[in-house]
Amino acid sequence: MRSVAARCHTALPNVRAAQRVQQRRSHICSAAATKEGPIIIDGQVLHSITQERLELINSLDDFAAEQILPILKPVDKLWQPQDFLPDPESPDFLDQIHDLRERTKNIPDEYFVTLVGDMITEEALPTYMAMLNTLDGVRDETGASPSPWGQWTRQWVAEENRHGDLMNKFCWLTGRVNMRSVEVTIQNLIGSGMNPKTENNPYLGFVYTSFQERATKVSHGNTARLALEYGDETLSKICGAIAADESRHEIAYTRIIDELFRQDPNGAMLAFADMMRKQIVMPAHLMDDMEHGAKNGGRNLFEDFSIVAEDLGVYNAVGIDDELESGMGSRSPHLEHLVPVERRERVERLARLVHDVRHRRGGRFVAHQEPWRGGWGGGTTTVGTTRCSSSHPPRRSGQTERVIRNSGRDAPDHYTGR
Ligand SMILES: [Fe+2]
Ligand SMILES: [Fe+2]
Repeated sequence: MRSVAARCHTALPNVRAAQRVQQRRSHICSAAATKEGPIIIDGQVLHSITQERLELINSLDDFAAEQILPILKPVDKLWQPQDFLPDPESPDFLDQIHDLRERTKNIPDEYFVTLVGDMITEEALPTYMAMLNTLDGVRDETGASPSPWGQWTRQWVAEENRHGDLMNKFCWLTGRVNMRSVEVTIQNLIGSGMNPKTENNPYLGFVYTSFQERATKVSHGNTARLALEYGDETLSKICGAIAADESRHEIAYTRIIDELFRQDPNGAMLAFADMMRKQIVMPAHLMDDMEHGAKNGGRNLFEDFSIVAEDLGVYNAVGIDDELESGMGSRSPHLEHLVPVERRERVERLARLVHDVRHRRGGRFVAHQEPWRGGWGGGTTTVGTTRCSSSHPPRRSGQTERVIRNSGRDAPDHYTGR
């Protein structure tokens, strides 16, 4: 097999066709350009978009400028982390911290495990920017490209950057979290990166990002709801404000997917099916605090965090898949108009595939009820789930039998079941 560099070199003459469409995009190496099939490194497919579809992406600049960029908010209209935090310039700064600690001291440990996991996911933002800039046709070619896609990526990241900042500072002030362990986890996670299997292909990349924005919207929305139930209105507003950002971002990425469905229903459908078949890789699945496995019988940190979050009702992979399935359903009428009759069978196959993936995920976890030892500060958190058998339909959110042990602090009755 020839080297990647050699294959990229042979690609350049055909890339010029794309460059004629968009002059400023100067270095694209796509599978379409090589006409030799995709480049594969370590079993991963690279640059899988076809030339025709790359040209379609290159024709979407006006769409991105008119339909996507306006979803971002002007900086002077946006909240900043400091709007929700004790003011260090205020003479009663220490009193504000005291109040914050009073409000948060009785929140269950499991909630903090979930909040910290969500925060660490947000803090790995450099990885997500890198991922977007792997995508052919939409990457920021210079780091300060004036193209609408370059502007979107940078300003989306700038909005997202506030999320990790705010959650990190809040957690630090509570005194409820082992911050050094959290910082080690963040450094490891960013250092590990992630491979979402999007093949430098913007079709696949935008399916991935639209899914992830939806997942974070659901997750932060649920931590907002729980914070209110635990009596911390400020924390609820924090999580709610972040969820509102995620919702705007989801609209943007979904709008891109809808445009792809409108202009290239077959390509969009195949991309959707491909990402579902691969099962969406969670962005923080490589998190590592360098002690969780050793102190917890070799269990995986991300898996334990996922179980705690799911049992708390904050994140539910099955629920998310339901939403994804309904998202697919919402596009089906669109497809009926656009997809020729002979291809509709593919739509039906895709719907079956989404259904199958949901139910495979439903049986993924192994049942155990173990304490969470060390690390971020799990306190009395117990990791456990009863949703353990693939032979039974998975329970929906809210139906999972609660097996987390409460900390014994004054948590609300709805939580403890008292
Ligand atoms: Fe975020
Ligand atoms: Fe987001």
